[in-house]
Amino acid sequence: MKNKFELCLENIKKNNILICPYCKQGLQIDNHSLKCYNNHNFSISKKGEIYLVNSANYKHSSIYNRDLFLSRREFINKNYYNNVYLNISKYINSLNKSEITILDLGSGEGTHMHKICEKLDIKYNLISIDYSKDAINLVTDYYLNNICIVGDINNLPIENNSIDVIIDFLSPYNGDEIRRVLKQDGKIIKIVPGNNYLKELRYKLDLEEYRKKEDVKNNLLKYFNIIKEIEVTDIFIIEKLDLDHLIKMSPLQNNLKDKQINIDKITINNIIYYGECK
Ligand SMILES: C[S@@+](CC[C@H](N)C(=O)[O-])C[C@H]1O[C@@H](n2cnc3c(N)ncnc32)[C@H](O)[C@@H]1O
Repeated sequence: MKNKFELCLENIKKNNILICPYCKQGLQIDNHSLKCYNNHNFSISKKGEIYLVNSANYKHSSIYNRDLFLSRREFINKNYYNNVYLNISKYINSLNKSEITILDLGSGEGTHMHKICEKLDIKYNLISIDYSKDAINLVTDYYLNNICIVGDINNLPIENNSIDVIIDFLSPYNGDEIRRVLKQDGKIIKIVPGNNYLKELRYKLDLEEYRKKEDVKNNLLKYFNIIKEIEVTDIFIIEKLDLDHLIKMSPLQNNLKDKQINIDKITINNIIYYGECK
């Protein structure tokens, strides 16, 4: 059986759309690394991670660390977002394509995308990009057919017009870069917290409700027509262990201080925007 490194090379060879984050030239495989025409060199780890960041700008995030992503994985694995996955996978399956390239932007540790991909009945190649090395290290636990990149949403190491579907699941957004890498008939799927997302927890932490959706929609509308906007709301009974993971899985934990949180219900409320290029 091929190891992760060999699989990574194989996936790149199949459809090489990677470019240098410094000079934007195409990257070619050169032994254990990728190299551009100008000799910028990027090593590929044994687990198949590729560091494609401009190191002059790269700042390690102390918030998005391995512990946060492990809690995220535990919580997400309990299927609180199942109806979101169903909606997205159904849409992708309906695209009527035989094979697609998907880009997961700000992938985190990869479980959301893994669960969406499990429901796909078309062939796909997946590129996962996150700024956090810890996140990308965890993404390599999944899949055989993906490329795992430590990279910046604001400087994507991806060729123009090369992606069929971009998924941005609760992550930062850069419309210029998304439009640049998306094919003319490509789709953007942006998942944003609805006003009631985690409302029971936010209430206990004295935080206002999320109010992101209008800004996100206006940003999307600069480059994309919104084909549909779906709101998914589920209210779950939450056990103590899941609550602990939930608290640890996001920067919300910074508001915790010494507070003891007790809640028995949690609202998972997300808006899914489906967009296509104008
Ligand atoms: C709220 S988390 C969402 C992660 C994942 N999509 C999920 O829902 O589990 C936001 C993610 O965006 C990543 N991120 C933040 N700024 C980024 C940037 N400039 N480029 C790439 N990823 C970034 C963080 O490292 C983090 O993994």
